[in-house]
Amino acid sequence: GNNVSIGLLGLGVVGSGVIKLIENHQEELVHQLGCGVNVKSVLIRDTDKARNVQLDQTFLTTNPDDILNDPEIDVIIEVMGGIDEAFQHILKAFSAKKHVVTANKDLVALHGPELQEAASRNKCDFYYEASVAGGIPILRGITDGLSSDRIQQVMGIVNGTTNYILTKMNTEGSTYEAALQKAKELGFAEADPTADVEGLDAARKMVILSRLAFSTDVALEDVEINGIKNIDLEDLQYGDTLGYTMKLIGFANCHDQQVEVNVQPTFLAKSHPLADVKNEYNAVYVYGEAVGETMFYGPGAGSMPTASAVMSDVITVIKNIRLGINGRQSLAPRFKKELKTPDQ
Ligand code: NDP
Ligand code: HSE
Repeated sequence: GNNVSIGLLGLGVVGSGVIKLIENHQEELVHQLGCGVNVKSVLIRDTDKARNVQLDQTFLTTNPDDILNDPEIDVIIEVMGGIDEAFQHILKAFSAKKHVVTANKDLVALHGPELQEAASRNKCDFYYEASVAGGIPILRGITDGLSSDRIQQVMGIVNGTTNYILTKMNTEGSTYEAALQKAKELGFAEADPTADVEGLDAARKMVILSRLAFSTDVALEDVEINGIKNIDLEDLQYGDTLGYTMKLIGFANCHDQQVEVNVQPTFLAKSHPLADVKNEYNAVYVYGEAVGETMFYGPGAGSMPTASAVMSDVITVIKNIRLGINGRQSLAPRFKKELKTPDQ
């Protein structure tokens, strides 16, 4: 069949991974879809920047309307980051009946339900697998794999940058600053890494996970957040001598409609499965009433792993187009949540 044309918003760490994955896995895509996938145009900011990807037939633009008004483009991949502009572009895409895939957890945590509503209203798809835990298919794991279950707890390491920093401090005696610098160079950190180190990025992911796991409304204000900014090497080394490893842990629990979500640095016994998760890797423990304990593990950040999650969503969207089933309604909240505070 005819190739599907895609518009890409952003050509940084994730966007260039998407270009490479489409190039390198064209055979897999054709096998899945019966046609190729072609990135027709890409939104960037800086036209002078050198690009390390091949862009033969691809049009680079700094004007989002070149993409959002292009009738040949059916699917938009938003990997530019930030909130307000990305939000407006995505709403515009839905109005133009384009499906959207994003890796933007800042945006999904803040405006996810509203965007889903706009998508459904326009019979469009909205998927965001890459927004939580990079390459790990955790959202599908919850919404598809565990859809019949009653999930009671979701807990884990959901920020690659802080896990990378803690690992380097713990195992190599790196300073906090040197480890953060390295995480930036490797493309794990956010453009402004404050969100990573202050625990906000992990909190955003816990909001997205809790909404899907518990089928209820959860907002960022509901999350108690502590980051790793004030952790020092001595604390880590002292813990280590006592048999403990420090990790930034996201925790979400739901019991009798009481929801509790928090993010905090936590000492784990070295025998704990999460203590062994190193560098930018993430791991998410999910406890369902029927299934019991499950663990999802893999690279939580980085160009190709994140591109893999993005493209899995694109494949789903294109299959839905074939079946004419885009724009599924999001489920109404199953119950009205009460917040459980730590003192309760
Ligand atoms: P980068 O900073 O590497 O890339 C951002 C890209 O978007 C750049 O190409 C930039 O253009 C472009 N861009 C940004 N703002 C604008 C704008 N206002 N107008 C036009 N173009 C713009 O970010 P990442 O690729 O690391 O991250 C992208 C998204 O994916 C973010 O939402 C992030 O949170 C998320 N994410 C990132 C992961 C990672 O490992 N890096 C993992 C999972 C999710 P230019 O190149 O010209 O500067
Ligand atoms: N900055 C994020 C992290 C990228 O370090 O986990 C993946 O969402």
